[in-house]
Amino acid sequence: MDYRPDLDKLPTYSVDEREWDIKLDANESNLNLPPLVQERLMNRLAFLAFNRYPEMGMNHLKEQIAHNFKLTSEQVLIGNGSSEILEKLFHALGGPGRSIVFPTPSFSMYQIYAKLTESKPVPVLLEEDYSLDPEKMLAAAKQSAAKLIVLCTPNNPTGNAMSQEDIERIVTQADCPVVVDEAYVEFYGQTAVGLLNKYPNVMIARTFSKAYGFASARIGYLLAAADLVKMVGKVCMPYHVNALSLAGAEVVFQMRDEFIPSIQQTVAERERLTTALKALPGMIVYPSVTNFLLIKLAKATELANFLADKGVGIRDFSQASGLEGCLRMTVGTPAENDAVLSMITDFMERG
Ligand SMILES: Cc1ncc(COP(=O)(O)O)c(C=O)c1O
Repeated sequence: MDYRPDLDKLPTYSVDEREWDIKLDANESNLNLPPLVQERLMNRLAFLAFNRYPEMGMNHLKEQIAHNFKLTSEQVLIGNGSSEILEKLFHALGGPGRSIVFPTPSFSMYQIYAKLTESKPVPVLLEEDYSLDPEKMLAAAKQSAAKLIVLCTPNNPTGNAMSQEDIERIVTQADCPVVVDEAYVEFYGQTAVGLLNKYPNVMIARTFSKAYGFASARIGYLLAAADLVKMVGKVCMPYHVNALSLAGAEVVFQMRDEFIPSIQQTVAERERLTTALKALPGMIVYPSVTNFLLIKLAKATELANFLADKGVGIRDFSQASGLEGCLRMTVGTPAENDAVLSMITDFMERG
């Protein structure tokens, strides 16, 4: 077959699709939708016109989201997960010979989308404590005449967040649009949304896949200036978000207060897990403001395999550049965390 040049070199996003008893490898919510939300969603789907294409403008959901952030619906773009939003941003602002700056280690898809869109990837290395030096980011952007800067805060897989001052510094000094990927913001509570009405080059990407337990539906959105939203919208397919997901997302967003208890539980469990894991000799636990923890230990892969044999899936990053010896585990339900904690303690005590 005569494929596009270099397509064979494009890395594939790989996941271990085993049927885990305890699934802590994808930073999903480990609780299904709250029963009341599920009930409303099912009722809503019962009235769906399955024979019709989705509403092209996605105005119902856009208006709800815009209203919540005191924006106009022209400032909202809905996507098939925030993955689609990010990929479309790379298409719209990147392209052959055009640089896109992003942190590393961070969400691995930034590198893949840069390659896919034939943009020039400019990864900026995080510091040893995984903080991002805004000056380094700005220098890389200036040097490469970047067309887009991606910030991921809180950052996956390191779990830490940037200060609002650092974000604002980058936004004000950059000569290009800056997207702030806030996939995990609900577990942190501090957002860069306030910058939207101050600076025309700032964009925020959000998802329903994490705190709102709606990963199955693939819904994400972008908040940005109306002209950016319009231009990025041009590279999206017509009807790129299906009507079932859209209808479900409207219900989830309307009922978002129903998710506060599970978010609070995740935050409390994250702190409990951090304290307990830190107490184990030989274990480094990075501070996290997300729904997952990054841990580091000498026998990282051995621990991941030990847990896998017991039906627990976590993500092994120990071979990834800048993440040597690191594993990432999603915060589960209290019972799941108890079980995993006891397995990890057992492993560490064996030496
Ligand atoms: C930082 C970050 N951004 C974006 C995404 C994509 O999420 P989704 O496409 O499910 O909205 C993820 C998923 O893990 C993520 O970790």
